[in-house]
Amino acid sequence: MQTADTLCLAGDRIFVGDQPDDFALAGLFTSDPTICLLGLGHGGAIRPMIALNPGASIVAVEREPATLRACVDHFDRHFPGVAFSAYRADARDHLTTTRESYDAICVDLYEGDLHPGSVLTSEFWSEVRARLTDDGVVLANVWGLPRHLDAWTPPSPQSLFAALIREHFPSRRVLWNRRNCTIVAGNGTLPERLPYVGHHSGLRRHDRAIASVHPLRWSLCTDPPPGEHDAPPAPGFDASFLDAEMERRWPVLLGRLDALLPDGFPSLRAAGSARELLLDPRASRETLLTLLARGDAAADFIPNVAAALHLRGDLTVSGWYGRWLLEDWGRLRQVDPSWAVGVGLWQALCIIASPLSERPSWSDDVLDLALELGTATAPS
Ligand SMILES: C[S@@+](CC[C@H](N)C(=O)[O-])C[C@H]1O[C@@H](n2cnc3c(N)ncnc32)[C@H](O)[C@@H]1O
Repeated sequence: MQTADTLCLAGDRIFVGDQPDDFALAGLFTSDPTICLLGLGHGGAIRPMIALNPGASIVAVEREPATLRACVDHFDRHFPGVAFSAYRADARDHLTTTRESYDAICVDLYEGDLHPGSVLTSEFWSEVRARLTDDGVVLANVWGLPRHLDAWTPPSPQSLFAALIREHFPSRRVLWNRRNCTIVAGNGTLPERLPYVGHHSGLRRHDRAIASVHPLRWSLCTDPPPGEHDAPPAPGFDASFLDAEMERRWPVLLGRLDALLPDGFPSLRAAGSARELLLDPRASRETLLTLLARGDAAADFIPNVAAALHLRGDLTVSGWYGRWLLEDWGRLRQVDPSWAVGVGLWQALCIIASPLSERPSWSDDVLDLALELGTATAPS
């Protein structure tokens, strides 16, 4: 019999600390789901899905023939045991012509750095819903602004997607991952809990840790705010629009941080940079805890920066970040359990999973914590 262990072991890792890891959840809502992945790309989401549910049947849709061919060749060569069907088609055409109903649809459609215009319409989400089973779910990857720069405040892709999805789906949740979020929405009511899948003895330790934290992260995640239906900017939410928007919002964040810094600390807003704070673990930790206690989304700033810099090979923040997480874990969980698991621990796991940089010295201890949490919260 094929299991996640036999299907996925080849290769160095399954989870890589990026948004496609979230699509693994698509396999947890029902026992042998049929999942449609709109936007195959490099197929980064396929092995995470199968790792959490080897019984999943995956249908992937990709518009670009060369991308589709390269992805299929890659899997044939390196992961011949991983089965999925791939179709060359426009996502919207597929939704309107297929007779299939899917237990989960993952929406991961990008044209370069742009959300295709068709995805930013109400009709698209109505078509997605029509192709779901009664208990089906949609998982949408929304790239845009990080939450610490008030991503829910328009203009932002997150705000627009939240509004569009809310219009068509009765229940919704959101998982954050630096500049991406995954909005999950149900055709019916979304379950409060997802099954624990910690039995993959053959998976590498960090993959096992992430697999076991996924259901816990789900059980703690919250609803996205209503969002706003502002028309997207022309030519869309491309990288230059988002860069300009981040620049515009940056001084506001620095001002919020300044207000919490110890007396005598140099003004970040005046310097136009948070570097002094990030070089001072003690001040960073205290600031973050105060933000968290106030329910301020700026608390995401330090974990997001720790992971984003780490992925670029800069260990300035990741070097101390995980050690602090472990020391203050009890306090963090008490103040905001959803944040502690879904942002604090999750970004530490992203740092560990990253194939692009060396692992920090605290990695083993964070993996112990994650594995322990996953086991402790699993139903017996
Ligand atoms: C971010 S990539 C997908 C990444 C992929 N899900 C993964 O896990 O690696 C976005 C993909 O969407 C495809 N795409 C964009 N618009 C499309 C459309 N209208 N129909 C089908 N595919 C589309 C692009 O060609 C690109 O390969």
